[in-house]
Amino acid sequence: MCGIVGMVGEGVKIESLIEGLEKLEYRGYDSAGIAFPEKQRVNVHKTVGKIANLKEELAPFMKSTITAGIAHTRWATHGAPTGANAHPHTDCKGKIAVVHNGIIENHSELRKKLINSGHKFHSETDTEVIAHLVEEHYEGDLPSAIRHALVDLEGAYAIAVVHADNPDMIVAARKGSPLVVGFTESEAFLASDVTPLLKYIRDVYFIEDGDVVLLAPGKLEISRVDGSTVKRPVTHINWSEKSAEKGGFPHFMLKEIFEEPEVLRNALAGRIKNGKAHLPEMESVQSRIKSARNIQIVACGTSYHAGLVLKRFLEDHASISVEIDVASEFRYRNIHIDNSTVVIAISQSGETADTLEGIRKVKAQGGTVVAVTNVVGSTLARESDVVVYLNAGPEIGVAATKTYVSQLAVLYIIGAYFSQIRQDDDRVIQIINELEGMPTVFESTLSTINESIVQLAKEYYQYRHFMYIGRGYGYPTAMEGALKLKEISYIHASAYQAGELKHGPIALLDKEFPVFAIVPDDGLKAKVLSNIMETRARNARVVAICTEGDQEIGRIVNSRIEVPRVSEVLYPLVMSPYLQLFAYHAAVLRGNDPDKPRNLAKSVTVE
Ligand code: F6R
Repeated sequence: MCGIVGMVGEGVKIESLIEGLEKLEYRGYDSAGIAFPEKQRVNVHKTVGKIANLKEELAPFMKSTITAGIAHTRWATHGAPTGANAHPHTDCKGKIAVVHNGIIENHSELRKKLINSGHKFHSETDTEVIAHLVEEHYEGDLPSAIRHALVDLEGAYAIAVVHADNPDMIVAARKGSPLVVGFTESEAFLASDVTPLLKYIRDVYFIEDGDVVLLAPGKLEISRVDGSTVKRPVTHINWSEKSAEKGGFPHFMLKEIFEEPEVLRNALAGRIKNGKAHLPEMESVQSRIKSARNIQIVACGTSYHAGLVLKRFLEDHASISVEIDVASEFRYRNIHIDNSTVVIAISQSGETADTLEGIRKVKAQGGTVVAVTNVVGSTLARESDVVVYLNAGPEIGVAATKTYVSQLAVLYIIGAYFSQIRQDDDRVIQIINELEGMPTVFESTLSTINESIVQLAKEYYQYRHFMYIGRGYGYPTAMEGALKLKEISYIHASAYQAGELKHGPIALLDKEFPVFAIVPDDGLKAKVLSNIMETRARNARVVAICTEGDQEIGRIVNSRIEVPRVSEVLYPLVMSPYLQLFAYHAAVLRGNDPDKPRNLAKSVTVE
């Protein structure tokens, strides 16, 4: 994720940049840094960890005035959270400094080329190539050098650049990562979201993909990569500074749900090439995947639910049977592991004690561990054979939301990769194709669904119990929906395979015990409909989440949420924000703080 800030003009103080950065700390806090032109060079300060560390280092200079400055707070993606990898990054001469939010997909190729033409690198980051590329193209005109550099970059970015020879200027650009700018008579500002700007301005410009912006005191010029100038509409923001701390959302959980389109984009960036899964990080274990006799998935909680989706995907599309355990059971189970076992360990935090012990057991017996985690440098990342990162940015809300969505996206890619190696199922091409469109699908659903889910939550938040049911890919969705509801609203919610109801749980149902049915238009829909009829016969109220336009379901349930039509395997993904929002609003209506549910911790580092 990362957050960037830039300020140029008469009254800019180091203190102002740090203050702006603090507003973006929710976007990452692995390291922080600032850069500003001074005496023909760029002066750079960086520290590892939270912004407080940078603040401490800069304490004697806080009131100093500078002509222009850029700042960054980092969520590590490429390269561990070290001082060398902290932003800003500079060119060889120490004249150019760059901050970046996003991922440069072709950084390895660019780095090789730049090294061959004499550039020296000091970090492992993808970002450093940008500083060297701008240096390569610089002939006295900074915006022009940046435009040329952008032509070479593949991936997502919001960048801001300062140059020692242009002390009154910042040049910024965007493709795929957020960037907002604004100006007063004597200053100009940029940031990853509006929160750092609200102290100074309320009229802002949201920069679009392919835009390059020149910021100077009292001036903004927006152009395209080809140099033609463009105008962007002004947006008036009427948030108070305080309400903007969570980007204007009342809770981090809600904000994180609304970040899902961006999170999906980051999860998929660089991982689909010519319609196929592209995971260079997995190359070293390719032959072991090909010859694996068994695949085992290990995870806890929400990560386990994402694993259940992967299990089904691999069985359907990579012709291999897969075992899955919650890590606390896996550790104590006598299962046969040897060097033909490939284990996929899923953990958002990468620090869950049970999952770590699980993979240690696998490693000790000669198995191969593929880790899927959000946290660079986490214990899981360090102890596994290969790591595939979510790149979802920090998740502050205790209940996993955006990281679940991101896990599913990454696991579909991993599933497709296994399929390519083991079976090459043509149906996967269609799935990958739809997956690429998911950020846009999420953008449009999230812009319309919230109000109707508030209404639904109002109808149901006072019930004491809920039973979630689903079949096939709908079952992990039922489990995740139930977990979200119970952990933040404290409504008791259990999840069953819809076909299991008649073997016991149906005894619980009556008009006080509603059912939440996961019923996409897939191969098992007719079966779930029969199960819904069984629950209606016991007077249970039924909420159904189904495919858009499904009139049949409308006739038999009490309430209905419709999701876009997708391939069967993608329903767990596309249904996620609806279930998360339902749980969120139920929790808020019950007077709970969804960000900090009782008895829970974000990272479970004890057994
Ligand atoms: C539920 C939730 C937990 C975690 C579980 C595993 O919303 O967040 O169930 O999924 O504690 O955590 P990680 O993925 O960090 O191993």
